[in-house]
Amino acid sequence: MSNNIELHFRVATPDDAAQIAQLVQAAFRHQDTRWTGPDIELNRRFTMTPEEVLSTINNPNAVFLMATANDGTLVGAMATIKKTEELARLAMLAVDPAVQARGLGRRVLANAEEYAIKTWGVKMLGLNALNTRGLLIEWYERRGYVKTGETSPFPVEAFKELELPKDLHFVEMEKQVGGGKGAGSA
Ligand SMILES: CC(C)(COP(=O)(O)OP(=O)(O)OC[C@H]1O[C@@H](n2cnc3c(N)ncnc32)[C@H](O)[C@@H]1OP(=O)(O)O)[C@@H](O)C(=O)NCCC(=O)NCCS
Repeated sequence: MSNNIELHFRVATPDDAAQIAQLVQAAFRHQDTRWTGPDIELNRRFTMTPEEVLSTINNPNAVFLMATANDGTLVGAMATIKKTEELARLAMLAVDPAVQARGLGRRVLANAEEYAIKTWGVKMLGLNALNTRGLLIEWYERRGYVKTGETSPFPVEAFKELELPKDLHFVEMEKQVGGGKGAGSA
């Protein structure tokens, strides 16, 4: 594939669940020196089943968005979930390891943001990242996300056999995308 990949975006249907699960699992398991921290063994064990993807596809308040190349190959995906009238969550951003670091992740994220804003009219987008992924957090900051100061627990007890950092947790981030009634405005 050339460096300049043309992307086609669409909302996933139940028939797409298996290929999305495969892509997300491959992306998260990929050892990328840019993002991988002391939780490297955690990456290797990451699993995503077609059933988990289906539960998002079948949720009336959520979509899995797919990015395909000209030949129809799935190269990127991201889920977005409407949480309230004001807020959508973005999750499971994944780009095929074979075509990472060419700007695709940025475009897949931007597409998911645009979908949430245009479809649901939300004013705030939220996501999280493991605290060990400093470069990934900085990448989200370059996309306009700010740390809210809140954290969510990582279920370390499910990985007792691994030597995980003691303070492993998710860093919560938000991006304000709507003007109008945001905090601080009249
Ligand atoms: C996170 C992920 C989606 C990014 O996808 P991508 O297509 O590589 O992203 P992009 O090409 O748009 O951006 C890559 C960034 O890394 C930077 N980069 C590229 N090569 C680099 C290198 N060798 N060292 C440091 N930074 C590098 C680029 O400058 C770019 O940052 P910028 O856009 O601010 O300039 C992808 O790595 C992935 O699928 N990871 C596994 C799943 C995951 O961790 N998802 C996020 C969960 S919260």
